[in-house]
Amino acid sequence: MTRPAPATARIIAIIGAGLVGSGWALVFARAGLRVQVYDPAPEVRARILPWARESATALADAGLMEDVAAVIGRLHVVDTLEAALDGATYVQESVFERVEVKTDICRAIDAVMAPNAIVGSSSSGIPASRFTEGCARRGRFLIAHPVNPPHLAPVVELVPAPWTDAAALADVRELMQTVGQVPVTLAREIDGFILNRLQGALLNEAWALYDEGYAGLADIDATIAHGLGLRWAFMGPFETIDLNAPGGIVDYAARLGGMYHAMAQSRPPQPWPEDTIRRAGEERRAALPEAELAARRAWRDKALTGLAAFKKASGLAP
Ligand SMILES: NC(=O)c1ccc[n+]([C@@H]2O[C@H](COP(=O)([O-])OP(=O)(O)OC[C@H]3O[C@@H](n4cnc5c(N)ncnc54)[C@H](O)[C@@H]3O)[C@@H](O)[C@H]2O)c1
Repeated sequence: MTRPAPATARIIAIIGAGLVGSGWALVFARAGLRVQVYDPAPEVRARILPWARESATALADAGLMEDVAAVIGRLHVVDTLEAALDGATYVQESVFERVEVKTDICRAIDAVMAPNAIVGSSSSGIPASRFTEGCARRGRFLIAHPVNPPHLAPVVELVPAPWTDAAALADVRELMQTVGQVPVTLAREIDGFILNRLQGALLNEAWALYDEGYAGLADIDATIAHGLGLRWAFMGPFETIDLNAPGGIVDYAARLGGMYHAMAQSRPPQPWPEDTIRRAGEERRAALPEAELAARRAWRDKALTGLAAFKKASGLAP
């Protein structure tokens, strides 16, 4: 359940409206805020409203949203950066994950943003200090990294640069809570933040197990989808192990800490091998042809919508 939006956050600018930016647009519009969306690609701009209508209808069908027409009415697709920033007090940047692209767009935003505006970057792993140093208002920039798609997976990592104003960080945390997201605040910058460092540790091990022939892709995926992932939909690794030993987390560490340490030492980190990636690609495309990727993404989103509805009905939602 979302709370009334703070008066300081009535207009949101979405800069970059691909997979992640379009999801962000829906997050803010469904929370009652006016959203001004800009993407330089006309074909991307043309997709935003039809996609949002379809996604909002799916949320309404699952009991997660009420007035679809009102939500869509709050989305305004514009064709310049300046029009998107007009009156905006919060800007969510979701352009390509490259330092030079992020640097250019942050400088452009910096030049026209309102002095009281705050800019959150969706960057998946590049800290804000690498692309906001030259901005005049660099204290108003930070990372606000979502999970894809943001309207279905509410966690958002807030990572301040060394020069981010503490008040800006606090304001974004409050805004995210207000719109129904789950903010997680890092004390300081680290590449990959929390989410992709955890995901990276798992992926590095999954690639190694596959590369060394211990199991196929489908069996490794099944271990998560029908095993670890079931608990992870509502509890994290620390609470998981706290419940997995009679005496809790300390008991678990005493019983199994040595085993995990030995496993971590047994194999130094390696780049993901090219030929193994190629083999995995062939295996995945045989299981799911490229032409069916979009349909499978829609299937995933439908499953995530059902999961969100279940969590809400079961008191497991934030
Ligand atoms: N896809 C994911 O799973 C995911 C998850 C979390 C965060 N992110 C991050 O979100 C950001 C966007 O990723 P995405 O997956 O949506 O990529 P995407 O390729 O789907 O979208 C990027 C969009 O940015 C637009 N763009 C490029 N230059 C621009 C500019 N100068 N001004 C405005 N728009 C511009 C492009 O036209 C494109 O539509 C990246 O930083 C990415 O790392 C992605």
